[in-house]
Amino acid sequence: HGTGKINEQGHLEIGGVDTTKLVEKYGTPLFVYDVKDIVNRAQAFKSAFEEENIEYQVAYASKAFSSIAMFQLIDELGLSLDVVSGGELYTALKSNFPVERIHFHGNNKSPDEIEMAVKEGIGCIVVDNFTELSWLMAITQSLKKEMKVLIRITPGVEAHTHEYISTGQEDSKFGFDIQSGQAEKAIMMIQEHQYVQLEGVHSHIGSQIFETDGFTSAVEAIYNHLLTWKNKLGYEPNVLNLGGGFGIKYTIEDEPLPLEEYVQAMVKAVKHYAQKFNMTLPEVWIEPGRSLVGEAGTTIYSIGSRKEIPGIRTYVSVDGGMTDNIRPALYQAKYAAQIANKMDGKSEELVSIAGKCCESGDMLIWDIELPKTEAGDLLAVFSTGAYGYSMANNYNRILRPAVIFVEDGQEQCVIKRESYEDLVKNEVSYRSNTKNLA
Ligand code: LLP
Repeated sequence: HGTGKINEQGHLEIGGVDTTKLVEKYGTPLFVYDVKDIVNRAQAFKSAFEEENIEYQVAYASKAFSSIAMFQLIDELGLSLDVVSGGELYTALKSNFPVERIHFHGNNKSPDEIEMAVKEGIGCIVVDNFTELSWLMAITQSLKKEMKVLIRITPGVEAHTHEYISTGQEDSKFGFDIQSGQAEKAIMMIQEHQYVQLEGVHSHIGSQIFETDGFTSAVEAIYNHLLTWKNKLGYEPNVLNLGGGFGIKYTIEDEPLPLEEYVQAMVKAVKHYAQKFNMTLPEVWIEPGRSLVGEAGTTIYSIGSRKEIPGIRTYVSVDGGMTDNIRPALYQAKYAAQIANKMDGKSEELVSIAGKCCESGDMLIWDIELPKTEAGDLLAVFSTGAYGYSMANNYNRILRPAVIFVEDGQEQCVIKRESYEDLVKNEVSYRSNTKNLA
């Protein structure tokens, strides 16, 4: 599991760095990212497009893991960046990410966020609904600044994944509905506007998807509407953004496709329909998050207490849990793990791995075979690079972990561990600043 290997000491080594050494230096829990893995995956997406000989952009869906260092790596790799909030946009600006390659998503962008994006001159806004569109029109008008947009539509496709992360179906909070003519109305409104420029169409059908047919069905559904819009409105898109959602391997049961296959399937479908309907071939954009960073990340925890209930179960607790990885509690997500300091140990017992939060639901892994462990051993949980740190929280006032990038035997701490002072830094004492508003 994971991208690491076992070194001579029987320790887990990632990116040429012994994880037990990282723990001595930085403590636990610790997120360790294998930079090479991210680089290889970015390369796989890019070369698949290049082989198809088509104009493209690969935008990293930064919600999967956003930090200044991560954005700088993404820039180095020549990818674009998808942000979904003022906070992600701010982080991108702080990382000096080229603004023209930033795309802004979200179903409830505020006027302030829209204004920030327009003033900074980012690459495009993915417009989600009429409220946002009217704000964007007013803001670009008053600033006299243009903004390119894609309109997000729900193609009416259901991807085979967890319902919480499935987004392509008609009954969704995201995007303009096609069936009722809302997408068409949005296109007409934009076509008439001086400052808002329609670059194309966007669809994202869901996340952790293992098949290509959801994407090809989406392309088909979109093109059926594009044909109508071409005939009725004379509209043809320059860009077709097909979102992200490519699945990764968490456990032995997951069998993800090579990343190239998703790209090939999508591009082939786009080429097919563009030709069939006699339309100009658009640029194809994608927005992978999980598939760029998920498998690159490993979390190292220290094992603490142990509770054996005879004939029932053995609970082994670690020093993190739903505060650094909420996915098992939220989606019943499954993970694989090994003991980082006993990688050559034989699996000897069946245990369940508990987090340290005061919640019975705070379980990281149910029923896993591991070598016999004791307090102080290190548990490595694999494929935690996406939606782990980015969904981390301070429940029970637990500190967010540190994040380390490793590459070619070198390590770099890119996010420091939170401190107890960080926890209270925005707080003031009771009655210390009471104000009378009357
Ligand atoms: N584009 C859009 C418009 C999205 O909404 C998402 C993910 C992506 C791209 C990237 O999807 P990815 O390639 O990472 O699958 N917290 C959940 C996942 C939520 C996904 C939200 N949108 C999880 O931990 O599984």
